[in-house]
Amino acid sequence: VRVLAVASEVYPLVKTGGLADVAGALPVALKAHGVEMRTLMPGYPDVMRLVSGAEELRSWPDYFGGPGRLLAGSYDGLDLFVLDVPHLYARPGNPYVTTEGIDWPDNGVRFAALSRVAADIGHGLVPAFVPDIVHAHDWQAGLAPAYLHYDDRPRPGTVMTIHNMAYQGKFAPELIGSIGLPWRAFNADEVEYFGGISFLKAGLRFADRITTVSPTYAKEIQSDEGGMGLGGLLRERSSVLSGILNGIDISVWNPQEDPHIAYRFGAQDLTFRAANKAVLQQQFNLDSSDEAPLLGVISRLSWQKGLDLLLEAIPTILREGMQLALLGSGDRDLQDRYQAAARANPGRIGVVIGYDEILAHLIQAGSDALVVPSRFEPCGLTQLCALRYGAVPIVSRVGGLEDTIVDIGEADASGHDATGFKFGPVTADALAGTLRKANTVFHDKLTWRRLQRSGLATDVSWRNRAGDYAALYRRLLAARA
Ligand code: ADP
Ligand code: GLC
Repeated sequence: VRVLAVASEVYPLVKTGGLADVAGALPVALKAHGVEMRTLMPGYPDVMRLVSGAEELRSWPDYFGGPGRLLAGSYDGLDLFVLDVPHLYARPGNPYVTTEGIDWPDNGVRFAALSRVAADIGHGLVPAFVPDIVHAHDWQAGLAPAYLHYDDRPRPGTVMTIHNMAYQGKFAPELIGSIGLPWRAFNADEVEYFGGISFLKAGLRFADRITTVSPTYAKEIQSDEGGMGLGGLLRERSSVLSGILNGIDISVWNPQEDPHIAYRFGAQDLTFRAANKAVLQQQFNLDSSDEAPLLGVISRLSWQKGLDLLLEAIPTILREGMQLALLGSGDRDLQDRYQAAARANPGRIGVVIGYDEILAHLIQAGSDALVVPSRFEPCGLTQLCALRYGAVPIVSRVGGLEDTIVDIGEADASGHDATGFKFGPVTADALAGTLRKANTVFHDKLTWRRLQRSGLATDVSWRNRAGDYAALYRRLLAARA
């Protein structure tokens, strides 16, 4: 099976969140399942700098308003198609926003261009790689299934994966004319969305199969609340919608060989975590103490992640004698409030604002528990890394958090061993109550060790999850034959 994946970010080339991790790890894991995947991504400056052996496959004097080229190249085991269109992608800052954090005003054209070339590769633009399936990730690739639909030619199968319903790629209706979609597409049954157009809706309307990144999130997004405006469409399409859990790259996240942590350790020598904890405390200006339970957070700071609730729980953290090390960036307001909390509680609350992969590894290796209090979470990856590093996850009962963590109170009923703590409803009170419970269990060393060990024994790799994608591709091809 040949699959063209389309993604706006791919680890380790460009990353703003978990989408990049998934897009970077899945192709490698799929090889073992007989799937040949190539990934199409935009030629941002970092990509142009890093991709090696780039070969020009096509060039256009005018691609959506300026010269453009399609390149083939590779990086770190990934086979890539790179859309090099300097007037769209050769910009500083992140893939979506200016250095001031404002959406690029032409994002509609930028990602329509990506989807357009995806559809054309689907039609055979690159004779050496004619895909059986085009697999689009998130709204940035959402128009690919729509173009393939409206092109009205024989086409490959299409799969649309939702990593986050909150980002829908909404643009003014006028865009339709300039991105080569027919005006008849502009109606509520097709790409129109509250008077404008939505790239995500277009993908969900026209893809042969829809997946999202956990079974629970697949259910949640079929409700009016979880669907964020697209619940009705997803209910209509529920027969082709499924949830496949994410994995993590267990070679990037491997405590036995991790170059970023102070002391490496395996499942059998968890006592070495204490040495990492001491370094972590130093780096976050926390009191050095092995006895104080250290809570870690690695996150984007946005409403989704529920970190305002953790701010409200700080009095509980202090009263219980716990410490907090938070690494994150995002909302100004949350950044300011966390920095203020750190200033007010030296030695107890440590905050680093920014994006820092090395520090993220150290937090996994040195914190006792990793807190993920999300309001919604399609899958979530940091709790999976935590399982692999012996940090006990404390998570809300939503989406992929519900599916990947076994609560300490549920172990017997499910037949699986408990790996962490889950709380619901997603309120500051419920979170504070669970932090108190975790503190009690932390001081019961045997029980805590048991949580860590069952976490370490959990399979968080891509091996089986990639198999689920491979099976989905094969079923889709069989259904279309
Ligand atoms: P989301 O994609 O919603 O942000 P995920 O949990 O799926 O959430 O993925 C987040 C990824 O980004 C993880 O690999 C996590 O380690 C990483 N990450 C998030 N914030 C930071 C940060 N401030 N510094 C370093 N890595 C981060
Ligand atoms: C999104 C979600 C996150 C998920 C990631 C990768 O960013 O917010 O829950 O793990 O995509 O699928």
